[in-house]
Amino acid sequence: MTKLYEAAIEKALGNVSKNIERFGELYPHTSTDDIYSLNPNNDWTAGFWVGILWQAYEYSNKEEFLTAAKKATSQMGERLIADRHLDTHDIGFLYTPTTGAQWIIEKDAEAKELTIKAADRLMKRYRSDLKIFQAWGPFRDPEIGGRFIIDCLMNMPLLFWASEETKDDKYRDAAIAFVETTRKYLVRGDDSTYHTFYMNQTSGEPERGATQQGYSDGSTWTRGQAWSIYGFALAYRYTNDPAYLDTSLRSARYFIKHLPSNLVAHWDFDAPIDEHIKPDSSASAIAACGFHELLEWLDEDSNDYKLIKETMEKSMQTLIKDYSTDSNAQGLLEHGSYSVREGNSPDDYVIWGDYFYLEALMRLEKGKKGYWYESR
Ligand code: GLY
Repeated sequence: MTKLYEAAIEKALGNVSKNIERFGELYPHTSTDDIYSLNPNNDWTAGFWVGILWQAYEYSNKEEFLTAAKKATSQMGERLIADRHLDTHDIGFLYTPTTGAQWIIEKDAEAKELTIKAADRLMKRYRSDLKIFQAWGPFRDPEIGGRFIIDCLMNMPLLFWASEETKDDKYRDAAIAFVETTRKYLVRGDDSTYHTFYMNQTSGEPERGATQQGYSDGSTWTRGQAWSIYGFALAYRYTNDPAYLDTSLRSARYFIKHLPSNLVAHWDFDAPIDEHIKPDSSASAIAACGFHELLEWLDEDSNDYKLIKETMEKSMQTLIKDYSTDSNAQGLLEHGSYSVREGNSPDDYVIWGDYFYLEALMRLEKGKKGYWYESR
């Protein structure tokens, strides 16, 4: 398959190269009519564009990608120092593929310092009374101060890494507490997941699962299930706790069992299947990275290993053949969905879909594994 993956990477890098000029100093988020909406680095998604640039540089060694990656990473640093638009739990998404990537690639001391600062910023969202990282809104907001979401698992590697670098366990302790809360309340008995969950802010007791972007409160939003596969596998890498490996595996089995025949996920596993159903290619790109991460820990002779590997490869081949864009497009992957339920980019380019598609290709072709941990 290597020729297919190689050609897909080369094509993607061509699009990225054109995007450097198209985007200028702005950051892509999601698209309308195949044009990315750009912002001045004020959304939760800015890090993905920067991570794409770092990956493009690592693969090609080309100066144009390095220059753009460094410039954008420095803008991410400015945002952090000014504390602009950071009242969110998504600090890992913002700083792991940016200053974190620069540290991994260049061993740049300032990048390391900034990445630790980002971990400190994320700790400000930690509610030790509830053992959660509050997802959205002002900290301790009376309405949504007790709400946490499955996506946040991907913010935990930043904290695990910060403890390793600083030898201060406070980051790791909070991350483990959050992963535990997530395992307890967001993962359901049948191995499906809630997108979000509310803790009662007075009693500290669990209240209820609810969705934000899924079909219904009790449904399984496919991207959330993909975050679960990948997030628990990463938590296992940092902790060696077999419960996290098991949870990642269970999430993967559920995801695979409910896929449509082309092995690319619809936006929600419980949405009615009719001619209007939207895919979410980004869920499948994230799942491919999670599968690849998980495979490292499974016995190659096991049925799980064979099923997961086969699904990952076939699904990526479908993404390449049927979902990847032509060479002039801004996005790398068609048919991502941000929020079908809210009518927000329901069938468009989404920049995290592009990032994880490229990460999955790099994993399959080069064995490179994104920036969620330093290879060791
Ligand atoms: N973290 C938000 C999303 O996946 O849409």
